[in-house]
Amino acid sequence: MDNSIVLNGMRFFPYLRKEQIDREVERVAREIRLDVEGKNPLFIVVLTGAFMFAADLLRQVGINESQIEFVRYSSYEGGTSTTGKVKQLMGLREDVKGRDLVIIEDIVDTGLTAEKMVADLKSKEPASVKFATLLYKPESSRTGFRPDYAAFVIPPKFILGYGLDLDGKGRNLADIYACED
Ligand code: IMP
Repeated sequence: MDNSIVLNGMRFFPYLRKEQIDREVERVAREIRLDVEGKNPLFIVVLTGAFMFAADLLRQVGINESQIEFVRYSSYEGGTSTTGKVKQLMGLREDVKGRDLVIIEDIVDTGLTAEKMVADLKSKEPASVKFATLLYKPESSRTGFRPDYAAFVIPPKFILGYGLDLDGKGRNLADIYACED
């Protein structure tokens, strides 16, 4: 049976099923909990793509003293390739000085967004900064940036679903799909 979907004329195939995603999100949640338990961490969720991952992850991490903030950056201006320029569109309201921060991102592709975000946050003198991503594409890296936690390390395919989009579409999908090569 062909479970592929077509969006904007591109065909996507099932790549990671909800059950696999749940398993790896649970593992990442355990790793994070071990590192930040007792530290009153501030989780910084990167909109929009990380919203579904963050919702599942943070329920599993389950630290009641933690706080959650949202930031927004843009590097894609439509389509499937990065512009290489990273702009902050929405910033933090909480003071991060002296805090233990965990950034929650959907995907590390070139690493440009991640690198800028970590540099911005480090300049505000937090106690620590960790980076969690649902997907990590090391072969696409232009920066050598390495996340502290990754649910999946994947080849440089264009991905859709579970929060990730193509021109704003497909974020609702429970499974993760990959574009045909
Ligand atoms: P980077 O700065 O190149 O690492 O890319 C970061 C942002 O690009 C991510 O937060 C996503 O919004 C977007 N992105 C990168 N790869 C993909 C993909 O395969 N599917 C959907 N969005 C992606």
